[in-house]
Amino acid sequence: MPGPIGVFDSGYGGLTVFREIEARLPQYDYIYFGDNARAPYGPRSFDTIYKYTLECVRHLFDMGCRLVILACNTASAKALRTIQQHDLPGYGPGYRVLGVIRPTTEMIGRITRSRQVGVLATVGTVQSESYVLEIHKFFPEVQVFQQACPMWVPLIENNEHSGPGADYFVEKYICELLEQSERIDTIILGCTHYPLLLEKIRRYVPQPIRLLAQGEVVAERLADYLERHPEMEILCRKEAQRTFFTTETPEVFDANARLFYGKDIRSRHFELK
Ligand code: DGL
Repeated sequence: MPGPIGVFDSGYGGLTVFREIEARLPQYDYIYFGDNARAPYGPRSFDTIYKYTLECVRHLFDMGCRLVILACNTASAKALRTIQQHDLPGYGPGYRVLGVIRPTTEMIGRITRSRQVGVLATVGTVQSESYVLEIHKFFPEVQVFQQACPMWVPLIENNEHSGPGADYFVEKYICELLEQSERIDTIILGCTHYPLLLEKIRRYVPQPIRLLAQGEVVAERLADYLERHPEMEILCRKEAQRTFFTTETPEVFDANARLFYGKDIRSRHFELK
């Protein structure tokens, strides 16, 4: 039976990806699932992120989803491969989980000219080395420089990202990245929260350097995936319905979600056992 496409994030960040997916593929049904009660995932261990992500993916499958997008780099970096290799086979062929790192890395070689790329991400994503490994799979000659930005998600989640306090940490991490190489010409915003800091990031990144946010890239690759996989496409219901779940308080989620999603939403609470 066809079901909605599931979109998962630790909290709000995935909404920056979801809004692009929805703009590109409005005909499908979607369930957005934010695990706000346990966010941020960034500083957590591999085992914890895997356990939390798998639990949320299972809930989305129980709600009828056949295809789930991990719209979270940290979950894509630390949980996706194990879920794909270890857990999905138990569900059978009509279930898929996709992440956001692969689509971004696939196209990076077409963008960078200097063959030196920067990645700004959470501690978890940086430690996993997923961006380095994935980029090297497609473009072995590209050098990847990573910088963890542990203060950015908390600043955004606490709605402090536009204030003057955020400038200190934005400048700090960007300087630390750019000190690693003078030839970086492209920087990946490797966390779905970071588009909210784009204006400030731009202020501290020299103009010729290109900043790559993931929303449009992921949406484009998903459209391409559905075209190439008609057996999955027919399992995605097309009634243009959207449902939002948060594992925390819906009123708080709705009040903050606008910043990430650009529209008002009405979420429902999902009780974690
Ligand atoms: N938005 C998530 C990501 O893309 C990270 C947020 C968190 O630390 O939970 O990595």
